[in-house]
Amino acid sequence: MEVKIGAKAKSVIKRDSRVIFTTTREDFPLVADHGSGDFLYDIEGNRFIDFSSFVSCYNLGVNANAQVRNAAKKQIDRLMHGMFMDYYEEQPVKLAEKLVSMLPPDFGRVFFSNSGTEANEDAIKLVKLFTKRRHIIAFYGAFHGRSMGALGLTASKTAHRAHFGPFVNVSHAPYPDPYRFDGDAEECSQASIDFIEKNILAKEIPPDEVAAIFFEPVQGEGGYIVPPRGFFKELRKLADRHGILLVDDEIQAGYMRTGKFLALSNFGTVADIYTFAKSFGAGFPLAATVARKSLGDTPSGSHAGTFGGNLVASAAATASLDYIKRNMRSLQRGIVRKGATIMKRMNELRETYEYVGDVRGIGLMIGVEFVKSKDTKEYAPKERDRVIMSCFKKGLLVLPAGRSSMRIIPPLTVSDSSVEKGLDVLEETIKENSK
Ligand SMILES: Cc1ncc(COP(=O)(O)O)c(C=O)c1O
Repeated sequence: MEVKIGAKAKSVIKRDSRVIFTTTREDFPLVADHGSGDFLYDIEGNRFIDFSSFVSCYNLGVNANAQVRNAAKKQIDRLMHGMFMDYYEEQPVKLAEKLVSMLPPDFGRVFFSNSGTEANEDAIKLVKLFTKRRHIIAFYGAFHGRSMGALGLTASKTAHRAHFGPFVNVSHAPYPDPYRFDGDAEECSQASIDFIEKNILAKEIPPDEVAAIFFEPVQGEGGYIVPPRGFFKELRKLADRHGILLVDDEIQAGYMRTGKFLALSNFGTVADIYTFAKSFGAGFPLAATVARKSLGDTPSGSHAGTFGGNLVASAAATASLDYIKRNMRSLQRGIVRKGATIMKRMNELRETYEYVGDVRGIGLMIGVEFVKSKDTKEYAPKERDRVIMSCFKKGLLVLPAGRSSMRIIPPLTVSDSSVEKGLDVLEETIKENSK
């Protein structure tokens, strides 16, 4: 089906350009109107299969599911905002208890906020408070948010940072990228660990001044990069050698996307602080920063925020977590099955077409990297953008990531038939654009 963009959409886009600051929109003339399950409908009545989950925000389907919506509606009629920073309410406490029950032992205490950026901002404050150290380590390619603290951690594109410094004290290390590393998985992993030990901690900043290392278990905006399976265990050892905390940003990769509640669980280790947002709010702006209980508490007044733990968002998030807990086994089976189907089809395309350089992922977090040639691995951003735009025109939503990658992240509940239809569109599009 060919998507048709008419006067209604064009008029909204024109009005938008007059009053709204430019953000990151990539020329998609999509004016969203309503959606359900696997599909989004625009204001023109075009139907799109969603392989974006709205950047991992709709893990349970576009517009979440009926349980989530009903929980939010019920809460709207009782009390919408409850001053959780000053009074007590049961709804956010219930949510925190459920969230903690999904995490490793010793977790934890929860701080609620409204976005991924804020969750990481809160984590920056916590690690400084708990360690009394000021310096932080993060990775090249990382995206942790755009406010003045979190932006210091982010290093995936200069466009994010230009004109905004100075930032908090952060040193960046190379994130292990097996596709672009000349060596095996273990060497790839070790090269990043060595960089931290031999460059940052030996030449730049003494270990006893480093509060934490922030990382994404699978790098999202940086290009859907899956590190070698042994990497985070080595990072854990390094952190423990120096009393440095590990902060795991689960904002895009977490919440079952990889088939496990925590994406880090795929790597057999644990962090000291976890941050959640996106699908955690099940369509509402809600984020959480969760720390090990043994790290301590915040003194009264040192950190708070008006809307964190908003009652409607908390009710929706609680219903969403309940759904996940109740359906854990079938969700996991579905993620593994559908992820394998996508990987298989995309790997066939990689074998057929020179410009499909790499296919990688865990569960339903899958990245495809486009290159000019398999030998040189030169990035092919224009080719990637053409594929994504052609998919859009054929009614399939996929998103870019990194220099020349594309992410395939349908809702976890996507039907097998939508997976097949979406893959048919991708195959046709990749073939057409290969000339
Ligand atoms: C891994 C990660 N961390 C943090 C953020 C920032 O979240 P938000 O846009 O809700 O501030 C994002 C957003 O894409 C993300 O992918």
